[in-house]
Amino acid sequence: MCDSNPIITILHLSDIHRTNDEPVSIANISTALRNDLQRQQSEEGLPRPDFLVISGDLTQSAVEEEYEETFNLIDQLKDELTVPDFGRVILVPGNHDINWDMSSGVFSTGRKKPKDADPALMHCQDGIFFWTDQDRYAKRLQPFRDFYQRLYGREYGTVRKDQFDVWPFPDDGLCFVGLNSCDQVDHLRSKGKIYEEAVYQADKRLRKKFPDATGMLKIAIWHHDLNWLARQELNDCLDPSILGQLVDAGYGLALCGHTMALTLGKKINFLTFFLAMSTVSW
Ligand SMILES: [Fe+2]
Repeated sequence: MCDSNPIITILHLSDIHRTNDEPVSIANISTALRNDLQRQQSEEGLPRPDFLVISGDLTQSAVEEEYEETFNLIDQLKDELTVPDFGRVILVPGNHDINWDMSSGVFSTGRKKPKDADPALMHCQDGIFFWTDQDRYAKRLQPFRDFYQRLYGREYGTVRKDQFDVWPFPDDGLCFVGLNSCDQVDHLRSKGKIYEEAVYQADKRLRKKFPDATGMLKIAIWHHDLNWLARQELNDCLDPSILGQLVDAGYGLALCGHTMALTLGKKINFLTFFLAMSTVSW
């Protein structure tokens, strides 16, 4: 980390769920955050945030107008927080960033199991098969993808293996990797999943850019939480089968959101290597 600022501060927000007729104004949020940060600074000596992380559910129903509201909020927050530009804002999609109308429009249906359908993009409910392909499936994220393009000036992946992003900050000694835990989430399915190939591709891109990235703290950002540890009746948490791959890939920290409960990894037996933290609400 750079000598002039040995402490790196990350402001982690999640599930901001912005709507068209938002009852909590951008001004109110900005004022509350500014006051909170000033208090943290004076009472606990916490430096102002270097990074703003928003771990998904940017909108309530993933329509264009809600993304306009989200853009305005983030634009205001980055100024308030002295995060100098959108390059230090790290965000990922959540289940509320999937447009259900678009999702329902991209599936074919039938009573007979389709022969050549991608098993990951096929679902059977009450004897009816639903299936689609990757290009059509990506449309459920189109408003998010438009917003992403506007914010960063680059495209969010269409095919599943490309739905990630990498934000390396070698001078700060860390790297954020945004993963899509909505890989197979749509209007029919709610289980959080991260595609293994996307984790691999993210690592590949990082290694290509920084062959000697071993000294950097790798921070994974995704949306769905790990509350299957405490709330096993829930079926929309993150499928934990990806965690081993993340540990093997050298991630030291994960930030997520969704059900807004603290998930310190103390029950996870590989905590020594990996700490997963969700946003918290009291
Ligand atoms: Fe969520």
